[in-house]
Amino acid sequence: MKLKIQNLLEEIKGLHADNLETLEEMRIKYLSKKGRINDLMADFRNVAAEDKKEIGVLINNLKKEALDHINSMRDVLKCENHVDESLDLTRTPYPVELGTRHPLSIVKNNILDIFNRFGFSIAEGPEVEDDWHVFGALNFADDHPARDMQDTFFIQSNPDILLRTHTSSVQSHIMENNQPPIRIVCPGRVYRNEAISYRAHCFFHQVEALYIDKDVSFQDLKQVLLSFAKEMFSEDTKIRLRPSYFPFTEPSAEMDISCNICGGKGCNFCKHTGWVEILGCGMVDPAVLESNGIDSKVYTGYALGMGVERIANLKYQVNDLRLFSENDVRFLREFESAD
Ligand code: DAH
Repeated sequence: MKLKIQNLLEEIKGLHADNLETLEEMRIKYLSKKGRINDLMADFRNVAAEDKKEIGVLINNLKKEALDHINSMRDVLKCENHVDESLDLTRTPYPVELGTRHPLSIVKNNILDIFNRFGFSIAEGPEVEDDWHVFGALNFADDHPARDMQDTFFIQSNPDILLRTHTSSVQSHIMENNQPPIRIVCPGRVYRNEAISYRAHCFFHQVEALYIDKDVSFQDLKQVLLSFAKEMFSEDTKIRLRPSYFPFTEPSAEMDISCNICGGKGCNFCKHTGWVEILGCGMVDPAVLESNGIDSKVYTGYALGMGVERIANLKYQVNDLRLFSENDVRFLREFESAD
């Protein structure tokens, strides 16, 4: 009897089913009421009373092993069937949705590309700044009214720490650590305490450029401005410079370009003047060079700074500044082909 059980156990362990139908046939053959294991019960009746316990355990064990083996084969087959049905390994992958570049990044990259071609390299500085780099080193005296030109966010616990109001602050970092020739272009985000509306925001973006060397003249500045305007907008763009004031440049100017929307004829965008303002510029004030450790008797330089949103408005006629920071994908998708 023991041998019979042992043989049956070996036989069952050696079973292998290729599909669920064969497996079901096996289950019936061995485990159903009229199956081979139940057949053993007929013999069990003839087992001597003192052996019944031991043989009973062996039969129960056989049943359990048979059931486990059949169940595990069923799991494997189900899993294989599942793979067959749902996985088509030859299928192309799900389409990956690509994002689009933000219009401000497109414009910023455009500006940087142009200045790179003119020989300027990119420099960046911190957004959280100290008073010296944003104002002091740029010739804003402590009580200078020009500080009111820019509504500054100060850190409450330490009024010496503030959010930079312009990327001109990068100038001071570069000048204090390098001697001329310096030829840099500095992109970045700036902050001002302004009420948010369609035409003002508490943060926006600027690109600053600085060139310091021997014999740098206003003539050089004008030439770079004209070349920039032509590359950024179109070959027939004209520029004009209006005298202005900034503490860190002397003389200072603001640059207008011929309105690229109406071609200078006059439209709502240029308030019918034919011109739109795009940047501030000037010759670096000798006092700024000296404050930052550069000999103003040997070196001269020019600087210029522009708002990226302003340029983006001109290029794409976005008439509400807030759209740039709302991240509405319907707006962002409109720039899909602009990159
Ligand atoms: N920093 C000025 C602003 O935020 C812009 C500017 C004007 C930058 C004149 C310059 C410059 O480098 O020469 O309004």
